Amino acid sequence: MVANAVVPAVFVFGDSTADVGTNNYIKDTKAKANFPQNGIDFPGSVPTGRFSNGFNSADFLAQQMGFNSSPPPFFTLMKGKLGLHKHDVLRGVNFASGGSGLLDATGKGPFVLYLLGARKFGIISIPPIGCCPSHRIFNDTSAGGCLEGLNEYSRLFFLSIGTLLQQLSSELKDMKYSLGNTYDMVSFLLNNPLPISKEVRSACCGSGKFNGEDKCNPTAQLCPNRDEYLFWDLHHPTQAAAQLAVLTLYEGGPEFVAPINFKELVEAN
Ligand SMILES: *[C@@H]1O[C@H](CO)[C@@H](O)[C@H](O)[C@H]1NC(C)=O
Repeated sequence: MVANAVVPAVFVFGDSTADVGTNNYIKDTKAKANFPQNGIDFPGSVPTGRFSNGFNSADFLAQQMGFNSSPPPFFTLMKGKLGLHKHDVLRGVNFASGGSGLLDATGKGPFVLYLLGARKFGIISIPPIGCCPSHRIFNDTSAGGCLEGLNEYSRLFFLSIGTLLQQLSSELKDMKYSLGNTYDMVSFLLNNPLPISKEVRSACCGSGKFNGEDKCNPTAQLCPNRDEYLFWDLHHPTQAAAQLAVLTLYEGGPEFVAPINFKELVEAN
């Protein structure tokens, strides 16, 4: 499985943007993605529980570090599915789950992980959530702008997580971190014509205004040119957008990822 991994293991925490199938195992969640048209561009065109047409950011990050894809979802390991064994845990686990939120305790997360032995933290902040198709539909100006009030929360979160990480790293010996500013990354895409940002308002898969009124499901409308869309569905980026975001996190400059980028974080000793 592991070709040339440059880190011993990767542990992923997050929401549906990084879920690689955790929610397939959660009975009482409405956040499910293990049906078409999700996965249409995944190897074999199979839905996997990813909220994406293909790979997601957890996969692309793991690939940058020399793995084939994201480490497996926690529940797969728990249930011994797919013939996985305990040693698979050694390459990491993906705990990300669709619908999970940010608790007040989120800040304590890095500290507990540090106590458990983690030393390198790649943190990805929150994009301008008010610009998701699901929220854009509620801006009733004809231009279909973002919901600015929600974007304000994203900016505030970025500032407070930045302060928290700075403080933790000054107090915890050998802790290193890299903070990705997805707010500015997405804003850049919204304001600059790139192949991926041909369509930044409408989702590729969904229904209603901006394809943002309902989830992607087997009967939803689907765009043909998926690599030209920022959003796959009402909340989540396309595979192409996730890939560009990860490249930027990995090799980007301080305007998008600081104090060091993910590559420097991985290579630091
Ligand atoms: C709606 O979009 C416009 C244009 O981008 C913006 O000026 C306005 O503040 C937005 N309205 C809300 C409620 O966010």
